[in-house]
Formats: sequence, C-alpha cells, structure tokens
Amino acid sequence: MKRLVSGIKPTGELTLGNYIGAIKQFVKLQNELVDTEFFIFVADLHAITTPQEKQKLRARIKDIAAFYVACGLDPERVHLFIQSEVIEHALLGYIMESTAYIGEMERMIQFKEKKRTQTEGVRTSLLTYPALMAADILLYDASIVPVGEDQNQHLELTRLLAERFNIQYGQTFVVPVGHITKVGAKIKDLQEPTKKMSKSEGLSEKSYILLQDTPNQIRNKIRSAVTDSDQSIRFDEKLKPGISNLLTIYSAITDMPIKKIEKKYEHETSYQGFKEELGELLANHIESIQTKYKSLIQSSELDQILDKGRDYASMIAKRKMAKVMARMGLERKK
Ligand code: TYM
Repeated sequence: MKRLVSGIKPTGELTLGNYIGAIKQFVKLQNELVDTEFFIFVADLHAITTPQEKQKLRARIKDIAAFYVACGLDPERVHLFIQSEVIEHALLGYIMESTAYIGEMERMIQFKEKKRTQTEGVRTSLLTYPALMAADILLYDASIVPVGEDQNQHLELTRLLAERFNIQYGQTFVVPVGHITKVGAKIKDLQEPTKKMSKSEGLSEKSYILLQDTPNQIRNKIRSAVTDSDQSIRFDEKLKPGISNLLTIYSAITDMPIKKIEKKYEHETSYQGFKEELGELLANHIESIQTKYKSLIQSSELDQILDKGRDYASMIAKRKMAKVMARMGLERKK
C-alpha cells in the first residue's frame, strides 16, 4: 500500500496559508487517494529549532491536532500523531545527518533566512532541520508528500538523501515525490502580497489570517488587504499581486476555478463588493471549522485519536528502523 506523510510545526498559530497550502490538501487527498495510507503529524521536534515558550508550545501542539480533525481529516482514515511521541523520528534524523553533508544544509533558503533574523544564538538543529524532515518522510516509506511551495527545497534534499542512502547501503527507502497544490501553494501576505503569508514576529496583524481569528477580524483583514488602484478583478500575479492573492483564496475556499470568479465579477467597477463577499465566505468557512475545533479541544476524544495514531506510527517506525540499522551495520554481531 502506498503511503502519504506530512506535518506542520507548532511555532505559531495556524495561518490561512497553512490551511490552504497544506491541511485542505490533506483533506482533499484523503478522499481521492483511496489506496493510500495517511500519516499526518504535529512536527513538534521541528518547533524547538528556534526558542519556544513552554506553555505556548504545549497548547499549540494540541491545537494543531484539533484543527486537523476540525478541518475534516478523518481519524479512522488518517493516522494522526505527535512527532516527539514516536522517538524513531529523532533516531532516523540523526542517521540522515550522517548521510547529508554540511554544505547541503547550509544551502537551504529557509535556514539562511531564519539565521539572518535570529536574535539569540542559532541552534544547531536549525541547520540540521532538513535531515529530520527527511527522516519524517523516509521513516514511513512515503511516496507522496503534500506541502506548500516553501517546502520544495527540503523535499528535493529528502529525495537526494534517500537516493544516496540507497546507493551506499542498498535499496532501503522509497524516494518520495512532492505534491504541491495548483491553487494556493503560496498564499501571500495581505499587506505585502509579494511575500509568503506567515505569522512571524514584528508583522502587522493585518498581514495574516489565523484559523483562530474571529469572523469580524477576518472580514476586516480582507477589507484592508492591499490591492492596486486599477479596480478590475483579474488574475495577474506580476502586475496585480494583491487581487491575484485574493482570487486564489476565493478559489481555494469555494473550489471555483479562478476564471469563473473573474467572470462573476467582470462588471464590477471597484474591489469593494468582491472583498466584502470574500470576507463573508471566509469568515463563515473558518467559523464552522472553529465550532468543531472548540468541541474537540475540550473532549477526551482527541487524546484517544492521538494515542491510537502514535501506537500505529510507532509500530511502523520501529520495523523500519530495525532494517535501516541493520543495513548500516548498527547491530550486535551474534
Ligand atoms: P510549516 O509548519 O512551516 O508549514 C506547514 C505547511 O503549510 C505550508 N504553508 C503554506 N502554504 C501556502 N501558503 C503559505 N503562505 C504557507 N505557509 C505555510 C507549508 O508549505 C507546509 O506544507 N518543515 C515543515 C514541516 C514538516 C514536514 C515534515 C512537512 C516537518 N516534517 C515532513 C512534510 C513532511 C514546515 O516547517 O512546515
């Protein structure tokens, strides 16, 4: 049976970018790829590559798990778990560090960017992060990995490391392929629509939409999203990045092709009506997710789901690690 793996790190609250670029894809694929086994996790070990407040981290780990289910992942269909509860991730992460070269890690764009903005000392794990991500994927022999555009380079490195290991030690890992959505692989910042939407320190709240935002905050943020002065609702990422981003969001939320949305609004003479409607659609969409999230986060159901996911993932991971270690000669000679 084929396998699919993906995860999100609990470094900040979930953004609309995480939802459209990742979670929404997981949900769609869960219904389409009937003969594929799904492993979706909370990448908490990845979070500690930069400093985190303990209480906040603890809460966010659970939040992401609850949002996975609230957004439509079916726990009967998907193995949902927390990365640090399956310790083999760290072990294979180390083995991947022993497969990769320092130069390969230093080339990673995300590392370079994060290193530049880091005010405290840069943690070693920030550099070796892609080795852990490779481990997350290879541990389960995943052939498909749905991610947003920004993870592409990490995925390429995973493929390289899998191939290198297979050549050095014999066929061991499945070489995965990425799955990047056509609409919404890079949702942009609402105030600076040439940049990726993210929730980083120092950004204005108007730049991003969070899955935890209230309906009014969502409406207001869409209303104040930066657009050009041309007033025609047309998709043109180069000349009209702001409105193109809003069209992408509209399309992702409604599953309506962008061409059809353009047609719907072709006679509008201002952006106002379009923005109002998008704000309303998005506020309703996110509100219904929040209702499910609220009931889950207070129940014991979520813990049961995560226990079950951990037990299954651990079983697969342990089996895989035994093979990997044997291939490398890391076993006691009898
Ligand atoms: P993370 O936690 O930064 O983001 C989680 C997922 O959300 C996508 N994403 C976006 N997609 C579209 N537009 C945006 N503005 C946007 N912002 C974020 C990301 O591309 C990602 O798919 N290293 C990963 C987590 C990870 C992982 C893995 C993923 C750890 N191990 C194994 C896949 C497989 C990360 O930091 O994603």
